Order: sequence, then C-alpha cells, then structure tokens
Amino acid sequence: MTSGHCHYSMGGRPDPEPCRPQDLGKFEIISRDGEARIGRLHTKHGILQTPMLLPVINPNIRTIEPREMWDKYRVNGLITNSYVTWKHDDLRQSALDKGIHSLLDYPGVIVTDSGTFQSYVYGDIEVEPGEIVDFQRDIGVDIGTMLDVFGRPDMSLEELELAVEETAKRAEISLKNAGEKLLLNGPIQGGLYEDLRSKAGFLMGSAKGDYRGFAVHPIGGIVPLMEQQRYRELFHILLAAKSTIPPNKPIHLFGCGHPLLFPLSIALGVDLFDSAAYALFARDDRILTPEGTVKLAELNEWSCHSSALFPYTPAEVREMDKDDRSTLLAHHNLEITQAELARCREAVRKGKIWQLAEERSHCSSRLREAFEWVIEQIEESDEGPVGESALRLISTTDPVRGKSEQLSVDIDSRPHILHLNALLATRWRKPGSWWDGSEGSPERVAIISGVPPPWRETAIETVVSILLEKPRSIILIATPIGLVPFSLEDVSPWCHIDCSDSLWENTLDEYELNIWLDDLGIENTPIEIFYPSIEFDLDLDKNSTKLIRSWLDRCSIVDKLSLFCAISPSKSCNLTSNMSSRKSRTDRMVNVFFDEEHCLSPRLTDGALSLTLAGAVKLHEINPDPPPLFDNDQLLNELDHPGIPRVLISDDAIPFVEKGRNVIHGFVLGADSHIIVGQPCLVVDKNGSLIAHGIANSTSDEMSFFTKGIAVKIRDGNSKR
Ligand code: GUN
Repeated sequence: MTSGHCHYSMGGRPDPEPCRPQDLGKFEIISRDGEARIGRLHTKHGILQTPMLLPVINPNIRTIEPREMWDKYRVNGLITNSYVTWKHDDLRQSALDKGIHSLLDYPGVIVTDSGTFQSYVYGDIEVEPGEIVDFQRDIGVDIGTMLDVFGRPDMSLEELELAVEETAKRAEISLKNAGEKLLLNGPIQGGLYEDLRSKAGFLMGSAKGDYRGFAVHPIGGIVPLMEQQRYRELFHILLAAKSTIPPNKPIHLFGCGHPLLFPLSIALGVDLFDSAAYALFARDDRILTPEGTVKLAELNEWSCHSSALFPYTPAEVREMDKDDRSTLLAHHNLEITQAELARCREAVRKGKIWQLAEERSHCSSRLREAFEWVIEQIEESDEGPVGESALRLISTTDPVRGKSEQLSVDIDSRPHILHLNALLATRWRKPGSWWDGSEGSPERVAIISGVPPPWRETAIETVVSILLEKPRSIILIATPIGLVPFSLEDVSPWCHIDCSDSLWENTLDEYELNIWLDDLGIENTPIEIFYPSIEFDLDLDKNSTKLIRSWLDRCSIVDKLSLFCAISPSKSCNLTSNMSSRKSRTDRMVNVFFDEEHCLSPRLTDGALSLTLAGAVKLHEINPDPPPLFDNDQLLNELDHPGIPRVLISDDAIPFVEKGRNVIHGFVLGADSHIIVGQPCLVVDKNGSLIAHGIANSTSDEMSFFTKGIAVKIRDGNSKR
C-alpha cells in the first residue's frame, strides 16, 4: 500500500477522485457573501476548495515534503515551477518519465508557474511560450501557466501596454498547446494603470481555446507591491482587474501569501493565493501570524501558537541548529496560513468576512489605509473600472442576514448595509393611505429613539399612541446605523445590531437626520422625536388599536414586497386589500393570507419574505411576460419597481424544476437584471409561464457565465399548472 497508484497511502489521507470529464476546469460557488465566495474548482486530481493557498514547492529544496502537506496539513493543491524543472536536465527527464505527481510524491492538484517570475528576477529566460506549455502538459500538470510578460509597477504606460498586448498575443498558442487536459492560468498584467488592468482582464477573459478559455486568472506583477507593503495600490489593481474578469473564473493573487492580507482579499473576491512566504520567512527566523510578522529574536513567549511550536519555548527554538529551526518555523507558518484560511472561509459562510477584514485592518497602518480606501470606493462608486467593481460588490451581496452583528467603526460601509440602504432609498415609499381611512400627505415624521429592538415590544405602545394622536404619521426608528421605517422593524441587520443599550440613544445628529429623510423622500415633513418611556395621555381605544395594528401589519408586507420583490406599493396595496395573518407568541406575523390564501411568511431569521406557491402565482400575475434572453443586448431595467425578478430556463430543465429540483447553471437562458442574491425570484419558461419559485443564488450577470452549481434554490415547483 505504498505505491503512488493506490487509493490510500500509508497512514495518510486517501488520494483524491478525479473530476467527471465534463466538469474539468469548471468553477462553482457553494456559498458566498457578495464577491467573497466558497468555491470548488474541478480538476483531474480532485477539487480545490477555495479560497485556498497553494504553497510554493521548490523542487530542489523541499522544506516541507509535499506528501506531508497532503497528509498532515490537508493542502489540496500546491504550486511549483515548471521552468526550474525544465531547466534542470535530471528533473526535466524525471518529470517527463514519471509525471510531476510522482516526482513530487503528491496526489493532489499540482499548479505550475511558467518562468515569468524568473525573467523578472534574473532577466531573460531561454524558453518559448509554446514550449513551456507543451512541457507542463507533458509532465501531467493540472493547472499550468502561460508565459506572460511581467509588468513591473515602475514601468511606463507604453511598456506596460506592450506587456499586456504581448501576453494577450501569446494566449492563443498557449491555449492551443494546452490541449484538452491541461488547464491554464491566464495572468492579468497592467502595472498600476487601472484602465490597462481592466483591458487585460477583458482580453484574457475572452480568450478562447479549442476546448476552453483560461481556467483561472491570476493578478500578476504585484510581488513588488507586496514586498513594499503598498497595499492600497494592490487592492486598487485587484478591483480594476476584476471589473472585466468573467465572474465564473477563480481569481488568484500571484505571490500573495501573508495571512494578514487574506480577509480583505477574500472579501473583494480573491479565490486563490500562492506563496513561498511560509518557507522564506522561516529561513529568516520570522514567524507568520494573522496580525503580521514577528521576529523569533524578539519573543519571550509565543504570541500566536501552533502544534509545531507548542513543545518548545522561543529560547529553545533559538538554540536549535539553523536547518531544524527553519523547518520547525516553516511548519508553524504553514499551519497558521491554513488556520487563517479556514477562519476566512468560515467567516464567508457566516456572513462575517467584512467584519474580519475590518478587524485585521487595524493590525497594520498600511493595511488600514488600504481598507479605508476600499470602503471609500464602495461608498462612492465612481465611474471607471474600480467604480464598476465597487458597485458589483454591493449588488452581489444579500442585503439581509440572520445573525447578530457587532456594532463597529466601519459597519455603515459594509456592502450588505449599503445594499439595503440603496433598496430603501429607491424602493420604499411613504404610505398613500392611513389607518383611519384618510388619504393624502403625511402630517409628521415621528422618530422613535432611545430603545433597542425588538421594537414591536419596546415601542409598540408609543407607536399606537402616535398614530392615534395623528393618523397621518410616518413612523421611523433611529438605530446606530440609520433610520428605518417601523414597518421593517424585524429586518436584519437593523434589528440585529449588537451594542450596548446606551448606543440606541442620540444615534443621529441633525445633519445625518436630514440626509436620511432626504433619501427616504420625506425631507419636507415636520419631525417629532419620541422616547418610548414618555407616557401619553391618550386612551388606547381598543377598536382603534386593532385598526392601527392591522394597518401596521399591512404596511410591513407592502414595504417588504416593495424592497425585496420589487413590487410597486400600489400593486402591493391591491394584493393586501384583504390581508390577514397568523401571529407567533412573540407577536410576529408567521403566515400571511391574501383573500384567505396563505401567500407568504416573513422569514424569522432576517425579516425578509418567503413566498408560498400561491404567493408566487399572485406575484407572477403582475408581470407574466418572460424576462430578456442573455444574448440580447440587456437593457438595464430603470424602473424602481419592475416586479418580482424572473429566471428563464431551457425546456430541458423544466421537467426537473417543476418538480422542485434546483435550477442548475447552464440551463438558464435569461434573467431580469434586478435579481437579488438570497431573495425570492420566479422561474419561468420561454412563454413566461411559471415553472417554480425559489431563492436566487447568483445575479443575472453571473447566471449568464456559470455552467456549474446552483443558480436558483427552488422552494416549490409549479407542476400542477
Ligand atoms: N509569480 C508572481 N508574479 C507573477 C506574474 O506576474 N506572472 C507569473 N507567471 N508568475 C508570477
């Protein structure tokens, strides 16, 4: 049981299963938080679960044996240099004879680089672009790299343009020579010029081979920036390049391996890292931690632990001979790198990657500067490639989430909160009619201040009293992250902000208040502020209270249909004209009935809406036409309330989806551009007939690119139509 061909190696993990031939090179998203994604890249030597780091193996100096990386550290992919292997006659012959997996004694995914980096460090190299791809193919590499032209940050625009053009020119022969089985990295160069990075993303992203285009897009030419800790420029380049890289291709930060940079990189959409840092830093007696690098010489105790370091004190390690010490520290560095990536992946799954990125940004002033620059871009979304990526960060993020969120300095700038606020500003409307049957403009804006959620408990009496006193009152709640209509009181993140009670008081100054009221379109209405502890002198008349409460419930459903399903308030008013609900013991609506039919339920975790099939049918009646096909020049829908978004699927998928199976990427022919990830959508056929309804996993742009993974998670099929 020791041969490389057996399924189990001695005492180690089983060898990986090769992917199905039709999946080779495909990338799918399993879970996401906006652009941050948990993905799976399918290869002949198993699945790379991303975000992950490919440790660099120098075939001549193996600080940690690849087999140990596989068995002990669960490293599912590594990167080595095909040029170094090609250049050494004995390594070259042995790789050609045995294959690279046997040569390295590693069963997982082997990625190779092409010699570009050597040309940057040492000057000219001796290999031709076609030749190095042939070699990578012939030694059985999983993901090779074409010979790109390294664009240094100090190069002129003209030099960098040449580097980008020459790299794009070489793409053709590289993809041709890669053939059917070798997947290829198509690096994005362009130095510090954002337009050039975006042009390179487009050229490399649209390159087509006989079998496929590039499988992965590394961002190249960034090592000098990382060495000089020029992180703002690094993230600037990343955002610029991302504006044109197809969303179904994983992005690799070439040469980036410091754990400090993982959270923000991942939040911005990086899927792969590679680095020799674990070994290089160890040789230099430096220790990686998620908060930065520390010198062994300066430590009394380990400030960041690992199983490698536990048996020793820093003094004992300092006493070791040089080789033993480097090996030990390299093990620690690799362990910390793996642990931080696991932490990041878990943060993506839990919707907390931005919180982690914010926390880490406080560990280094250079990183803090970069983080602040990034959130400025997201908040302002200027024109150009960076603005485009910044907008995409917001629009791909589910605006709500089911978990509590710690209040922090930069919480207002997180993409999900900006997305929710944008929905509020464009889709929320002041009520057109009031609980007492009156119509017309509001008389006042009543702002509830000073009480924490749940406001249906802490503020309901005050709200009822306000409405009894003046029925035409708009009720808003002041929260530490802005004003929210009372109708959305159970929507996260507003109702899930975790902070001390005192922070619910005096949350907004006058200037901020006016901006919020302006965004909500109610800037010219008189304001009154209410603190729920103040007693009212009004009798809470039972009949009126009942009328007020059912009006509040109706407002809540109208506002949620407007925000999350893009239904216009006037149409929602019609839908809800005969509305009733079943409530929980904590006074939340559980089931909502239109004309006695159960049509939807507010989601208990995040306050957004969950449709029933009957509800989906009713929303479908409002816009029964099919959505636009992807091949047509998609016109962005300019309406604030274009109706519930729809996904158009091919006829082959209908028999499955109408029975409740999920919509798989590759079967989607068109979709409305206003789909929101995590929110309800309808699935229709070419005539617009309702096939099913579910929750969108991707934006419409993504649906036009991806060919694997779930596009819509179906709740109900409409098989009895
Ligand atoms: N390794 C680090 N940076 C680069 C790059 O720009 N291109 C290639 N091929 N390898 C790299």
